[in-house]
Amino acid sequence: MGSDVLDDVIGWRDGHIIAIDQTALPHRLSVLRLTTVDQLVDAITRLVVRGAPLLGVAGALGVALAVRQAEREGWDAGRLDAEVKRIADARPTAVNLRREVLAVAARVPDGADAVEAAARAVHDTAIEVSKRLSERGAAFLVEQCGPRPLKVHTHCNTGALACLGWGSALGVIRALRDRGALAHVIADETRPLLQGSRLTAWELDQLGIEHYLAADGAGPFLISQGHTDAVVVGADRVAANGDVANKIGTYSLALAAHRAGIPFVVSAPESTIDEATASGADIPLELRAEAEVTSFQGVPAAPAGSRALNYAFDVTPADLVTAIVTEDRVIRP
Ligand code: MRU
Repeated sequence: MGSDVLDDVIGWRDGHIIAIDQTALPHRLSVLRLTTVDQLVDAITRLVVRGAPLLGVAGALGVALAVRQAEREGWDAGRLDAEVKRIADARPTAVNLRREVLAVAARVPDGADAVEAAARAVHDTAIEVSKRLSERGAAFLVEQCGPRPLKVHTHCNTGALACLGWGSALGVIRALRDRGALAHVIADETRPLLQGSRLTAWELDQLGIEHYLAADGAGPFLISQGHTDAVVVGADRVAANGDVANKIGTYSLALAAHRAGIPFVVSAPESTIDEATASGADIPLELRAEAEVTSFQGVPAAPAGSRALNYAFDVTPADLVTAIVTEDRVIRP
């Protein structure tokens, strides 16, 4: 595939950020150039750049961007702090964003070059980590289910577009395929922007992996009918007690997997585990614009007076999670 294409999911070029516009795929592969904090915050909130680990990388590069803009525009330290905070706050649920912004911002006193080096290190680490957690996740599933081609159900987009490298849940799927242990994938379409049908299907297609799309809401029934051997998803934040926040619709898959007695595995880097958040009840869940549900591609899809409860994420309680697989360990909540 375009492994070179996916190398450019996000990067640092000549003092600015380049990023694939994830709202344009699969119809158009366009790479944007982000030169200001305003542009980056807009890209994050509109899901041009998205997925927990990728948000961490975007946040890290964002601090480097803010430092360059501060030099150009003569910001004082207070203004730079405020702009860095705006990046950290652009989306609340994925802990990776705030974590990497704070880590790289700690290097600001050392100068722009040190900040850039720290941001690049976050980028490169994400690639290496994704490969390790993918292999560990595949090994765990083979151990759980036996050495046979597995039908894997997944949700949202968790590939290179969301994480760099191999991805998280999609990385596990790729590693299963490479071991000859994958039959096919069922991918949910995913709200609000069809991250599953636009992005996951695109990545699976690029990888030559057989897949079926499922309407959001169909997953639990498909699982009950034996269409799935295991559910594998990513995470935006794992609380200290093992509760998992992930894309809205994940919880119903976990319930269905539990009832069917099949593994429900969360694949996420260590940087997604937030020991400072005690349980799922403490995870800030993003509530997005109602129009994402009451309209479709700008065209009203509901009566004008209808309201929407547009949570972007839900929380799966730890007792429904078979395992959380990171690059370093397998956690059994
Ligand atoms: O709203 P999104 O597209 O940023 O949501 C992404 C997810 O929910 C992913 O499953 C999660 O970040 C885990 S791995 C990338």
